[in-house]
Parts: sequence; structure tokens; C-alpha cells
Amino acid sequence: MKKLITTLLLGFSIFGQAQNINLISNVPNRNTTSLNGIWNYIVDPYETGYYSFHHDVYDQQKKPSNAAYFNNYHAVNKQELVEYDFDKSPKITIPGDWTSQVPELKYYEGNVWFKKSFDYNLKDKKRLFVYIGAVNYKADVYLNGKKLGTHEGGFTPFNYEVTSIVKPKDNYLVLKVDNTRHKEDVPTLNTDWWNYGGITRDVTLIEEEASFVEDYTIQLKKNNAAVISGFIKINNFNPAQNQVSIAIPELKINYKGKIGADGILNFEIPAKKISYWSPENPKLYEVSIDFNGQKLNDKIGFRTIETQGDKIVLNGKPIFLRGISIHEENAKGGRANSVEDALRLLNWAKELGCNYVRLAHYPHNENIIREADKMGLMVWEEIPVYWTIEFTRKETYQNAQDQLTAAITRDKNRACIIIWSMANETPISDARNAFIKKLVDHTKSLDSTRLISAALLTQSDSEGFGTINDAIGDYLDIISFNQYLGWYGGKLEDAEKILWKTKYNKPVIVSEFGGDAKAGFHGEKNERWTEEYQEYLYIQNLKMIEKIPHLSGLSPWILVDFRSPRRLLPGIQDEYNRKGLVSNQGEKKKAFFIMQDWYAKKKKEQN
Ligand code: GCU
Repeated sequence: MKKLITTLLLGFSIFGQAQNINLISNVPNRNTTSLNGIWNYIVDPYETGYYSFHHDVYDQQKKPSNAAYFNNYHAVNKQELVEYDFDKSPKITIPGDWTSQVPELKYYEGNVWFKKSFDYNLKDKKRLFVYIGAVNYKADVYLNGKKLGTHEGGFTPFNYEVTSIVKPKDNYLVLKVDNTRHKEDVPTLNTDWWNYGGITRDVTLIEEEASFVEDYTIQLKKNNAAVISGFIKINNFNPAQNQVSIAIPELKINYKGKIGADGILNFEIPAKKISYWSPENPKLYEVSIDFNGQKLNDKIGFRTIETQGDKIVLNGKPIFLRGISIHEENAKGGRANSVEDALRLLNWAKELGCNYVRLAHYPHNENIIREADKMGLMVWEEIPVYWTIEFTRKETYQNAQDQLTAAITRDKNRACIIIWSMANETPISDARNAFIKKLVDHTKSLDSTRLISAALLTQSDSEGFGTINDAIGDYLDIISFNQYLGWYGGKLEDAEKILWKTKYNKPVIVSEFGGDAKAGFHGEKNERWTEEYQEYLYIQNLKMIEKIPHLSGLSPWILVDFRSPRRLLPGIQDEYNRKGLVSNQGEKKKAFFIMQDWYAKKKKEQN
């Protein structure tokens, strides 16, 4: 009984305060109302709307203060002192970062408040949730002056129940967003990408029944391509409503199951004649979950992914990952989020000859994942455990783990995702090894079906061999590493002489290589920053890479030039990392065609 009450309280507290319940999955196919569009914002560098002049925190005070911005207060007469007004403040489009929308905020790192007013007529016994696709970096969220919660992490979704707070008219959803970087955050202070602040993904209201399907996994059972297995989890389970069915009409499946007292149904369903998902056949099945008369639909692909020795094996067949790395940026030089943004990036990857993309260095938005699923592009998804994370700090670990949990919860039914990546170029130490091992174990506890990797740094041994000698290789299914011959060191002329060795008999992915070129800047192949230099760098690197033992894939750095505050060479970088094969203006550089030819040959070899 205690368990049942706990479950009930998880959904909403008896005091009407919202609780940050577990993440609701498959939001695009639920009964939703979008809060995207024009919001008001207030730039608040001194957090005047959050702290009193003696730095008391307004949202922890018993008596609500009209000075607290989350109360969206308006003066009731000509005498009253109120020093803010959302409705008279500037407007911004949400989703969207402030860097690319408000020129004055280009370099701003600090606090900005956002407010959206809306009406909502919530019918009796229905429940309402606010679901936020991502906020970079930290969000304090309020509805009608009530604190819903605080979320950290710039690239993963979160939600709150607002059933007992929402009103039919004049609701005001207020977010305090802080993109200040901190050493102890994930990512840490130092990255090679722009710190886009704001509400960077969709804001959605989700309406549900009293008991509803909160989350589920419907995938092939590990090591058994003839069984579809997983779980269905009911929020606020009522034992009187314990029937649920899973229909996959094309597979002639109409499975009926009984939900346990813990609100969970675990199932295994024999399935024949599955058309397995692959880049050549990105087959997605219509799946429908029927719980208590509520239908929740999804489109799910079924495939197996495993390693056999030093091969990556998809549906029982060894594959080579013809990839490219991608940052989440749109044509306007801001955070990408829309389907259109996703297609712009993925179509270039397809044109390059890719069957795989490395979505760096953080979980990208759900649109690009679902578009990759449809297009047949396999995906490496990673969390921003990047460079010098505070590996000894337990709260930092918890933050990383929470981001990983949210990414896996959101995307675990997407066949295109074949790799979860734990980290990028993290310096070797005992604390870092332990941190990564815990993340690996956590990943396996949530999803034992996908492969696990991390982008490692390389060393060269006394004989000049490139070596991958990193203890966490023991925990990884795939050994991936970044190397920058000819850009950060080494001579391109020596490329064919450079040999690599690894102690692991595991598949190897070269997760990054590349060099900068300013599109349209031409010269000799030995002149850095020219397209010819980048072209020669690709030609030489590929000669070296194709000799790497156990090579099973590569994802050159990077598809498109992207903004970085570290890249300041005037007239060449101008705050852009220029390693793109395509410029941020959409111009294909000469190296694009080198890579395209190499992939075309690779594809022919494989078929
Ligand atoms: C690193 C890092 C990237 C960075 C790239 C570069 O390997 O993983 O995030 O942008 O190198 O230096 O351009």
C-alpha cells in the first residue's frame, strides 16, 4: 500500500504543488498544446526578480512579493511601486536562443526571464503537464507564481505537473534562465562551442487522464531478433484499470497484458517476418498502445546492433559507419531545433554518402533523432561530459547521469540510435575512469541493447605509433578516438608512414579528424586555412586511417562550420570553427568532395 501511495504522490503532491515527475516519453504523439511562439523576456543580470536587496530568495519566502518577477505583477494604481512589466518588455521567439535573436545579447551570459500567458480549460479529472524540450543551462520554472522546480542541463527535456495550478484564463508560465558557465557543471567552463542561452527547444502542455502511459520501451529483445520486448509504465496506476494492449498491425500483433501493482508491465511478444530497420530499409512500424481507452501511437523500427570481435554488426551483417560529426546549429547561426533545421543537416550528410552521424557533443533535439530514424541514418548520441569535468564531485556525476537518463528515456525507441557515448576527450585519471565506468553501468541498466563508446584522446608511443591506451577502453564496446594529424601536430607528408595499434580487439571508430578552411580562400596545399590545405589534409589522413586496425567507422570533424568563442582569427575564423566540410553559408568546400568520393568507394566495397 505504501508503494501505491508513493506512486500516487510521485504524480502530484497533496498540497497542489507541482512535482517534477519522471520524464514523459513520446510527447510528439500525445494530446498536446504548444506554447511555442512569441514570449516576453526581461534581461536580469543582477537577478533582481529573484533576490531582495539583501539577497533573500523571493521564491522561498512565505509572503509572495510583488517584486518577484515570477509573480508577473502589475501595479494596481498610480501610486504603487513596481519596477518591471513583462507585457511591456521585449519579445522573443521560443524556441530559440537569445544569442542569435537579440544582437545585444550575443555575448551575454547570465539571467533572462521569459513569460508566456495562456488560457487553458482543463476538464474535470484530466491532468496537465508542462514539458520543456531543453533550456540552456539552468531553469527555475513557475506557473501562476508557484515554483514548479529547477532544472540543470542544457540539452535534455524535463516536465512538471500543473493540474492543480492551471486556471481557465490568464495563466502565466515564467522561466528564469541562467546560462552562466561553472567549473562544476556538465559541460564545464571550457568548451569549443557557443554557449547559446535560452529556451532552445519546444515548450508543450500535455493533457492526460488520471492514469496514463508515462513511458515505455518497445524494441527487439537483446540477442533475439524474433521477440519484441520491453515495458509499459503507468503513471498513477489504478489497479481497477490494469489492462493494456500493444498493436502492431503490420506484424499481426495485438498483444494484451496485465499491469502489475507497481504500475509496470514487462512483456515479450514473439514476432515473425519483421522487416528490420537499416540505412537501406529504414522501416518504421505503426505501433499503438491502448490503455483504458487511451491510444498512444508511435512509429518504431526494429533492428539488432551488436559487436562481433572487431566488427559492428547490424541485423547480423558487419557494417562500416560512413559518418560525419554534427553540432546542433541552424542556418541563422543559432541553436537548431526544427524539422527544417534537421533536414538541412541530415540531407548534407546523405549527400556526403553517410549512413551514420555523430551528434556532438550533447543530446540533440528530438526532431533530428526522429528524422534520422525516417531517413535511415544511424546515430551516435552523447552527453556533454567534455574535457575537464569535475570528476571527483558527486553532484557533477549526478548531473551527468540525469542528463544521460533523460536522453535514453526520450530516445530509447529510436532504431537509428546505435551508440550512447559517455564522454569526449576527457583527461585520464582514476577519478575520470570511475566516473565513466559508473555512467557505462548506468547506461546498461537502462538500455542493454545499444553499444557504448566515448571519444578518447590518443597517445603516441616511443616508436611513433599512434596508440589508444586508455583504461576505459575495457568498459567500451567500441573504441573511438579523435586525432588531428596535420592540424594540431604531425606532418601530412608522413601520413602514410604512421601506423596505429590498439590493445583491444574491438571495433574502432575515428570519431574526429579534420582541419579548418575558410570557404573561398584558395592557395597552395601547404597554406593553412585554404580549402586546398583542408583538401590535402583529408587526402592524407584518409590514407593513414584506412590502415588503422579494426577500423569500423569514422565521423570527420565536422559537417558545418560552427560558432565558437575560442576561434578568433580575424578574416578567417571570426568566432567560427572552420573545420566544416560545408561553410555556415552552405558552401561545400573542396574537402567535401574528397570525403564524398572516399565514402562512395567504401560503399561499393561493402556491397
Ligand atoms: C576536439 C573537440 C571538438 C573541437 C575540435 C577542434 O577534438 O572534440 O569539440 O571542436 O577538437 O579543435 O576543432
